[in-house]
Formats: sequence, structure tokens, C-alpha cells
Amino acid sequence: MNVLGIETSCDETAAAVVTDGREILSNEIWSQVEEHRPFGGVVPEVAARSHVVGVDAVIERAMETAGIGFSDLDAVAATGGPGLIGGVLVGVMTAKAMASVLKVPFLGVNHLEAHALTVRLTEGESEEAAAFPYLLLLVSGGHCQLLIVEGIGRYRRLGTTIDDALGEAFDKTAKMLGLGYPGGPRVEEAARRGDPSRFKLPRPLVGRDNCDFSFSGLKTKVRQTIEDLPAGPLRDGDVADICASFQKAATDVLVDKCARAINVFKSRFETGGAMVVAGGVAANMQIRDSIIELARSTDMRFLAPPVALCTDNGAMVAWAGVERLKAGMTDGAGFRPRPRWPLDPDAV
Ligand code: KG4
Ligand code: ZN
Repeated sequence: MNVLGIETSCDETAAAVVTDGREILSNEIWSQVEEHRPFGGVVPEVAARSHVVGVDAVIERAMETAGIGFSDLDAVAATGGPGLIGGVLVGVMTAKAMASVLKVPFLGVNHLEAHALTVRLTEGESEEAAAFPYLLLLVSGGHCQLLIVEGIGRYRRLGTTIDDALGEAFDKTAKMLGLGYPGGPRVEEAARRGDPSRFKLPRPLVGRDNCDFSFSGLKTKVRQTIEDLPAGPLRDGDVADICASFQKAATDVLVDKCARAINVFKSRFETGGAMVVAGGVAANMQIRDSIIELARSTDMRFLAPPVALCTDNGAMVAWAGVERLKAGMTDGAGFRPRPRWPLDPDAV
């Protein structure tokens, strides 16, 4: 079974072909980073136009690399939300048109579900790997949530951010320090040379008896810390120390909340289970290592996609398509792209 997956919900135009045997036949990404760089962040209108311009060529490349013909596709999947709606529309309309011509099912994939299921593509879905249920920390540019993944389309949200997503806080910190865009990898880079104890930054909501996050106060404190430095250009050492202090504060928050979520998970399920991290921020090595340590100390297996499959890509969409196709959960031409689409509709 071959499924084409199309991702256009943010600033990457991506397409991939994945099989039900977990083979990634192709995984093409055309990044718009250069177009958004002058603005220091993603401009929705610019993104939507770039997806229109780029999507055909990216799909063509994905098919060429996969070495299969269009008639070999069993379904076409596209991110159907949540995301920047102009971009989502481009992917969904393209996928619907292809599915209609090829007479195969169309699948409107939830972008968050695609992140959530990626470990089943990369690790397998056996008892030792990513069998349901598992605990998921989903941390990206738009989301920061703890969820129990019970099955395809079945999620229980334990907590979420009450203000900013962590990736956004990484990006803003980078912007304030003049490190450029996208910020996450640059903050991580600079943090390696810094002293995480030099600046006292807050750990919002740590110690509270819930799984919710808050990062806006941390972001504000980073701004104040920069303003308190002597006037003039920032020194390399100061930038590195701020990045290290910020990253340590963020990591401490994630570890505290994951520990609480593990307790909830264990109280609901007797079997061991896995602690999974996914989303762009899961590419961060300090965050990964700290959660690996937490998993070890709480007898949970740790799983995360390889770094290249943490940030947005087409393979995760194609794989979510494979899983949904196998479960008979296909969509029709009436599927509506959604700017908002929570995984757990019952969560407040
Ligand atoms: O999942 P993703 O590619 O797109 C969304 O769905 O949001 O995540 C992008 C986010 C950005 O905020 C980016 O700065 C962050 O992930 N990110 C990182 C790292 N790599 C990407 N944050 C921290 N450390 C990293 N190494
Ligand atoms: Zn994403």
C-alpha cells in the first residue's frame, strides 16, 4: 500500500510517499525559510502563495524519488488542519483533485495526529514499541500539550499551554537576541556555550498539581533580562548565557509536567507504556536527554522520531494516512479544511 502525504499547514511545502510496510520511499521538503526571514517569522499570506507556487513540483519530486507512478498510489492524504488556513487549503485542494482523478480515497489528516503517530512509523507498533496507549508530549511552534494516545483518532488531553507554545517562546527568544529565524535550533546552538545558572528565569506553573503549561512570563523575563544588560550590542557570552538559562528553565518545566502526566498515565493503565515526544521542539537534544532520564527513572520506555521527522514533513502525513486508511477512516470531497482542530474535542 502506497500513500502520498502532503503538508502545507505552515512554512514548509512537503510531500512524501510511505508504504504500509513502514518504508519511506520519498520525503521531499521545500522550505520557505528564506522568504519569511526578512519578517522574523511566518507571514500567512506569503506562505499561502508560496505553497501554491511550490506544491506541484514538490509532489512531482516525491513521486520521482519514490520511483512509482501515480497509478500505484492507494490514497492521497493532506494535512487538513490545524494551521494557517491559506496553506491548508492548497494541500487539501491538491490532494482532493488528485484522489478524484486517480479514483482513490482522500484523507484529511490532523497535523497534530501526524506528529503523534510518527513514532509508529519509525519504531513500529508492536508491544515493545509504540503500541497504544502511550503518553505524548507534543511540543511545536504552535502547540504544547500532554496527551494520552489511545488509538487512531482517540486522544485524551491531560494538559496544554494556557498562553504561548514553547516553540514560539524559542523563536521569540532568538528574535530578541538577534539570532534570526527559525529560532529553536539557533538558541540550542548558542546554549551549548552558555552558563544555565547565570540568569534566574521563572519556571511558570511548576509545582502546580496539573499538566498545564505557561511560557509567556518566561518570554517576558527574557526580554527584561536583555534590557537590564549594559547598553550597546549584545556580547556573545551574554547571548549564550541567556539561551542556556532559557533552555534550562523550559526543560525544567517540561520535566515537571511530564512527571505529573506519567503519574496520571500509570494510574489509568497498568501496563508500562511509553513516553513519546514529538513536534519541532522535540529536536532539541537537552530536552530529549532530560525526558529520557525522566522516563528511565519512572520505568517508562522513551520514544521520539529521529530529529528530521520531528519538524514538519510529508512522511508523517503519509503515515497518518496509512493508519487511517487501514482503519477505514477515509474522507470525502466534502471534507473541510480547519484552522483549528483539537485532537481531544472534549478538552476544555
Ligand atoms: O513541528 P514544527 O516543525 O511546526 C509546527 O507544527 O509548529 O515545529 C517548529 C517549531 C519552531 O518553533 C522551532 O523553533 C522549533 O520547533 N524547533 C526547536 C528546535 N528545532 C525546531 N526548538 C528547540 N530546539 C530545536 N532544536
Ligand atoms: Zn508541526
